Amino acid sequence: MRLDYFLAHSTGLSRKQVKALIGRGEVQVEGEPRPKANTRLASGQGVWLRGEPLALPGHRYLMLHKPAGVVCSTEDPEHRTVLDLIPVELRRDLHPAGRLDRDTTGLVLLTSDGDWSHRLTSPNHQCAKRYRVRCADPVSDGDLQALRDGVLLRGEEKATLPAKAERVGESELLLTITEGRYHQVKRMLAARGNRVVGLHREQIGAIVLDAGLAPGEYRALTEEEIASL
Ligand code: URA
Repeated sequence: MRLDYFLAHSTGLSRKQVKALIGRGEVQVEGEPRPKANTRLASGQGVWLRGEPLALPGHRYLMLHKPAGVVCSTEDPEHRTVLDLIPVELRRDLHPAGRLDRDTTGLVLLTSDGDWSHRLTSPNHQCAKRYRVRCADPVSDGDLQALRDGVLLRGEEKATLPAKAERVGESELLLTITEGRYHQVKRMLAARGNRVVGLHREQIGAIVLDAGLAPGEYRALTEEEIASL
């Protein structure tokens, strides 16, 4: 995409006004000391107007393959955040819709649309989330049935809602839950005397983590994916 097109669409200014801004040196482009109107922007290349990052208008909806060690928040004094993995010009108002623990990997949805993320995270909507869970110890038939029926988490009074649980290895299962309680999956397995040693989210509602995304990579959601939630 050409710089003048990007600027016109992200600021609402005319091409003539945009050219004037570039001419006055008020536009900065990552890695381009002297940007011109016809400079071609690479995907993810940051653009600033008088030091403020610019983004194309309209809400943004992204899926990210979260690597371990990254936190699901917009800022953190100590750790890299999911936003640090997204180019600066896409970050405005972007937030993760729901959280994963720092050591959990997999599907995170990010959006600038607060209503959309509310639908996804609100307990009323009971959006299903599927996790691949690796446990320290083997998972028994009794464990599977208990997880399906609902288990009482330590310190809580209400059992978890019915879940789907399918064993895919002696100590590995696919668990689909519709709530989002604090550390829920780890605490569900702890309630069965087991311990989670690896947790990976594969799916939220109808949105499946794209197998083409390596850890740390993201892509825009399709219209269909956005509408599915
Ligand atoms: N449940 C957990 O315990 N951790 C997560 O990151 C997600 C669900």
